[in-house]
Amino acid sequence: MNEVLMKVQDLSKYFTIDTDWRGKPVSVLKAVDEVSLTINKGEAFGLVGESGCGKTTLGKILVNLYSPTSGKIFFEGKELSALNKKQRRSYCKDIQMIFQDPYASLNPRMTVGDIIAEPIIINKLLPMSEVEERVIFLLNCVGLARHQRNRFPHEFSGGQRQRVGIARALAVEPKLIVCDEPVSALDVSIQAQVLNLLDDLKEEFKLTYLFIAHGLGVVKHISDRVGVMYLGKLVEIAPKKELYANPLNPYTQALLSAIPVINSEKKERIILKGDVPSPINPPAGCRFSSRCFKEFGPCKLNAPKLKEVSPGHWVACHLF
Ligand SMILES: Nc1ncnc2c1ncn2[C@@H]1O[C@H](COP(=O)(O)OP(=O)(O)O)[C@@H](O)[C@H]1O
Ligand SMILES: [Mg+2]
Repeated sequence: MNEVLMKVQDLSKYFTIDTDWRGKPVSVLKAVDEVSLTINKGEAFGLVGESGCGKTTLGKILVNLYSPTSGKIFFEGKELSALNKKQRRSYCKDIQMIFQDPYASLNPRMTVGDIIAEPIIINKLLPMSEVEERVIFLLNCVGLARHQRNRFPHEFSGGQRQRVGIARALAVEPKLIVCDEPVSALDVSIQAQVLNLLDDLKEEFKLTYLFIAHGLGVVKHISDRVGVMYLGKLVEIAPKKELYANPLNPYTQALLSAIPVINSEKKERIILKGDVPSPINPPAGCRFSSRCFKEFGPCKLNAPKLKEVSPGHWVACHLF
């Protein structure tokens, strides 16, 4: 039986875009809208969806950078909003995030050694005399050399900077890491190296990942289960093999058809009409209905709910 590490229940995050003269919201952007999912201990849960669908916002809620508008988060069975100050501090240590842009997320005025040491010192994890040794150990874990600790972020390549970001996240011995498109900003040739590193570290440090990507190609190797998001909503969740072999939601089918194939086997590419609609005024009914190639009767009227159609395979679509 899988042990649940994190459970997210009806989680929403709305941003107020505009207010009237009394300060009352008149325009609200629903970045994350009633998302529910569980992440099991030791798994890599892939979260996929086009840019702007709310992946980073969801990740930031989980690491406590944003507070949700509504909904609940349970970590190791305890609800986040019920935690006292000390428990919340330990929650913040247990869940770390690796960001898409490794340059923007590292302080340019600090040496890489200080960047990695900082969370160890702030959280008082080790006596000061042992911090340097730990920093060197972490640098080695991510494939960097000990002498590089005295350098500044701008002296590193994109891939190396992402390694520094990973070392900093590992420094506090987290249980869950939210990897927010960690290779999207990197050269294709470097992407596989960083993905392999993350895969190895997951085993070595017994980590659990929420792995965010904008396409199904990147998460294929690393994920155990995959969730697909569209305009703030989860539209399908399934074990990886099942999702790639039997995608049910037309949106997942379109995302899947966008992965380039190398062999000669011809694959029909599904080109979606139009752009992603604005999350400020999303389409009525199913949010994907305005672009869906299988849209019929109820789609523009009611929003479909996530249903379990086979063990572990959930889909939100009126076809099921
Ligand atoms: N701080 C914010 N204030 C207002 N709108 C935001 C903010 N952060 C994100 N958004 C909006 O929320 C939506 C989801 O953004 P984001 O979570 O970054 O998507 P993704 O990571 O999937 O590309 C987007 O429409 C974005 O413009
Ligand atoms: Mg993002």
